[in-house]
Amino acid sequence: MKDLPETVHPLNNNRLPRHVAIIMDGNGRWAQQRGLLRIKGHVAGVESVRTVVRLARKLGISYLTLFAFSEENWQRPSMEIRALMALLRRYLHRELPEMQENQIALRAIGNLKQLPEAVQRDLAGTIAATAGGETQMVLTLALSYGGRSEIVQAVQTLAQDILAGRLKPEEIDTALFARYLYTADMPDPDLMIRTSGEYRLSNFLLWQSAYTELYVTDTLWPDFREDDFHQALEAYRRRDRRFGLTQEQIEALEASNSRH
Ligand code: IPE
Ligand code: IPE
Ligand code: MG
Repeated sequence: MKDLPETVHPLNNNRLPRHVAIIMDGNGRWAQQRGLLRIKGHVAGVESVRTVVRLARKLGISYLTLFAFSEENWQRPSMEIRALMALLRRYLHRELPEMQENQIALRAIGNLKQLPEAVQRDLAGTIAATAGGETQMVLTLALSYGGRSEIVQAVQTLAQDILAGRLKPEEIDTALFARYLYTADMPDPDLMIRTSGEYRLSNFLLWQSAYTELYVTDTLWPDFREDDFHQALEAYRRRDRRFGLTQEQIEALEASNSRH
């Protein structure tokens, strides 16, 4: 096992993903199909978030990361942004007791300083209130998040460490670099789900998804409920993750792991 890249976890093959990341897309189209304002789609989408968080916790998924607002989403109409921020605050207030009860630790990744102060305050409050003690699941909200910006801020901090003499350029490797990302203390996602049929990453977890299994469904996010989540997990179970190795090598590793 020692010679294998860190991403190789053959024991997790065909099992429950440890880390699921979701690009929650299609709220606007869901609303438009019903002749409603886009914001109604976001309101309905919050119910999907509640369902997925509950099910992930119940199934024993350790990390759930939700793309809730991208850096690019700041370019949307200001009314929609305001409504999304208000929904986020309401979600944080409403879900805190259940998070605490179920030992869910909330985290946030992204350029959080760009968020309105009230949102930053509520986020910090919920993160603090769910930290410490026993944690069964880490729920991470990606807010004002962009994968390229995340990498650039990592490079900036790293460059400062070099300038200050804390780090030598030759010490930089992939494991060290990953520690400068927002996701420093999280495993890479095993499964990434995207709703609403779009086959793109939209700048989500670019570095972290190098070996992530991708699952795209046509279901719009507000319609994504328990059955859809089970289907995604089932599809993941059927995948052969190889991490650049041959299938024979993976099978040999699985066999040797199951002997230990
Ligand atoms: C995803 O739904 C939610 C956010 C990006 C905040 P959209 O709002 O992107 O919905 P569509 O893609 O326009 O249908
Ligand atoms: C991605 O959805 C961002 C979130 C789900 C928060 P978008 O709707 O913003 O992505 P594009 O525009 O389809 O790439
Ligand atoms: Mg969209």
